[in-house]
Order: sequence, then structure tokens, then C-alpha cells
Amino acid sequence: MKSLSRKCLLLATLSLSIAAQAADVEVLHWWTSGSEAHAAARLKQMMADQGIGWKDFAVAGGGGDNAMTALKTRVLGGNAPTAAQIKGPSIQAWGQENMLANLDAVAATGKWDSLLPATVSNVMKYKGHYVAVPTNVHRVNWLWVNNHVLKKVGAKTPTTWPEFFQVAEKLKKAGIIAIAHGGQPWQDATLFESVVLGIGGSDFYQQALVKLNPAVLNSPTMIEVFNTLIRIKTYLDKGSSGRDWNLTTAMIINGKAGMQFMGDWAKGEFSAAGKKPGQDYDCVPAPGTENAFVYNIDSLTMFKQKSAQAQAAQSALALTVMSPLLQEAFSLNKGSIPARQDIARDKFDACAVRSMNDMQAAEKNRSLIPSLSQGMAIAPATQGAIADMLAQFMNTNMTAKIAVEKLTKAARVK
Ligand code: BGC
Repeated sequence: MKSLSRKCLLLATLSLSIAAQAADVEVLHWWTSGSEAHAAARLKQMMADQGIGWKDFAVAGGGGDNAMTALKTRVLGGNAPTAAQIKGPSIQAWGQENMLANLDAVAATGKWDSLLPATVSNVMKYKGHYVAVPTNVHRVNWLWVNNHVLKKVGAKTPTTWPEFFQVAEKLKKAGIIAIAHGGQPWQDATLFESVVLGIGGSDFYQQALVKLNPAVLNSPTMIEVFNTLIRIKTYLDKGSSGRDWNLTTAMIINGKAGMQFMGDWAKGEFSAAGKKPGQDYDCVPAPGTENAFVYNIDSLTMFKQKSAQAQAAQSALALTVMSPLLQEAFSLNKGSIPARQDIARDKFDACAVRSMNDMQAAEKNRSLIPSLSQGMAIAPATQGAIADMLAQFMNTNMTAKIAVEKLTKAARVK
């Protein structure tokens, strides 16, 4: 820890000298729920502490579809922000447009290569150069459960599909919404990918949703995935269509529903509501997915800046995001785990510690998997086509057979 605080001091001094001549930073993001806004506020405050102003460019909408549309409009108008919440393969797409800043000098000062796991640092680079900085890592394949609600119907947190459906049935019979789901394309895709992993396993997921292998997309296992989804649909409430993820999580928090499939940004909402894991709620890997870790790495991608002042402010932003203080505070609010591997675990709860352990284990056993729904796995156009197809499936009586055909077709969209 001693060497950590020395490093902090060094980075802070460097940031301060940068700040002496810095402009404001403008940051585009979609961290607008209660817990997300708290996390963003910590970063904003740390910038203010260095004398750097923060122009908030927040565009609501989980999954970031609205934010990305707003970003494109701004960039086309020749007015890119300092940084934007751009993740995964999209970083490469912006790199190809020759729009991104080179953060190599800052990364070398901060020793990012040695502090970040390769899975994370690789995503932050375009053609070997750092262009983005990670704020945190989310695990997507979680099931959130209200312990009090399950206890009421004599059920225990499920870990397998048969157990899951038994619990869902008990809740339904008791007149309680069994599964809270937010019917938006990106949330449909979040549910879908957990079922793909839970039914087919890691290799199947990689082949289907990362490699987009048509023979695997159009397979009996994928039929089983859609049949499982058809069964899940019978436990959703009528209000699910179009509902935001955080309002859906609130249903679990308030005991209106029993279970939700969602990434651990949901935990940020539980924590903000003062709920405790293991007591009020449980976090458990989605049925059949306990050996795998579906990752979603949040990052701020930096756009080229013209003036030296703007560049200095941008460098300070990058250094601050990677500072131990921000990495810890951001994830404590956000429900995620730090992107840096050297952050002390003592302030983190059991869900986060499990996430940290499971990520390390998954890295070793080749089951660390990029999230399709969160823009980590494939190009945005293909991802969008698949999410739209899934939304159609969730909102109609489409059969598993037709769904598999449509999925295979959507996977060809470039
Ligand atoms: C982002 C998270 C965010 C979630 C809901 C995801 O795409 O990566 O940071 O909390 O959307 O807004």
C-alpha cells in the first residue's frame, strides 16, 4: 500500500502541474441512474479538486444507444467532446476514423500496461496505442434475487435451470412477479446472452456470439436457448415492455418481483438503496454460468484536442480515471470491480469479491467472455441487428425455429 500511495502522490502532482494550464473537460456518458450519477459525480469532483471544470454531456438510456447517436451528431458537426463512454470494438471503429487522441505518454507515466489485465488493456488500444482509459469492469451474467420475497414462498436462490423454473413457478403461484425484465432491445440481448451461456456453455457462446459461426447459430442448442426464453416469457409482467433497467431493478429492491437477469450495475442501485447482499438480496451467476465471466469494460475514449490546454485537461482526466482513488470509489458506487488489479478489496462487498475471483479464474480457464449486449463482442451494426431481432422475438409469438433463422440472418449484417 505504501508504494501505492507514493504513486498516487506522484500522479496527483503530475495532474496538478497539468491542471495549472488546463481547460474544462466535456464528457459524454449515459450514467444517469441514481447510482451511476453518484459514480460520475466522484470523477467530476476529483477533476474539480484539480481546478478542472466538467461539462456534463449525459444522454440517458441504458445500453448507450441514445448516447452514441448524440455523439455521432456532435462529431459530424466538428465538435467532439473531450471523452466519451465508448466501449469494446466501437473504439476500433472510431480509431479508424482517425479521431482519437494518443494516450501513450500518459499510460507510460501511469504504468497502465503493468496495472491492467491484458483483456482490459487490449480493448483500450488502437493499433497498439492507448486511446481509451477504463473506469471499471462489470460482470453481465448475474441473476439478482430478493431474498425476502423468495423466503416468503419457501424458495432458495436458484443456480440451475430446473431450480430457476421451480422458483419462478412458486412466485407466480403466490401472485408475485417472478422475473422482472425491462423490454428494451439491449436488455432483451442481456437476458439472451445469459441464456446462451447457461444452456450452451462458454465455447458455444464464443462460437455463436463472438465468431458468429452460422452452423452454431443455426443449431439444436440454439433452438433450446429460444425455447428456454419462451418459457421465461411466461413469467414476465405486462409492464415490462420498454421499461428502464433501473426501474426494473427497483422492482426487486422493493419486493415487487423476485428475480432479474442484469449486469452488476444493478448492484449499484441495491447499494444506493441501503440493501445488503446475502441479507436483503443475492447475486448469483445466471443458471449454469458460474464458471464463466461475461465482461463489460466501461471506458472513456479520448478524442483528439486542438489546444495545448485542452490536451492537458484530457491527460489529467485520463490520469484521474486510472488513479486508485477513482478506481475504488467509482466501482463502490457502480456495482462493478476496478479495472486496475492492485486495488485493495477490503471495502468491497461479497458480490464484488466473487466477481474479482471469478474474473481471475475465468481468465485462466478460457471462459472470460465478451458481452454481446454491452458492445464488447462484435461490431455495433451486427449487434444492433441481433438486438432488434431479439426484441421482435420477445414481443411476438415467434417460434424457436423462426427465431434461429432470423438470428442467423441478423448475424450477417455488417
Ligand atoms: C454500461 C454501464 C451502465 C449500464 C446501464 C452499460 O452499457 O456499460 O456502465 O451502468 O449500461 O446504464
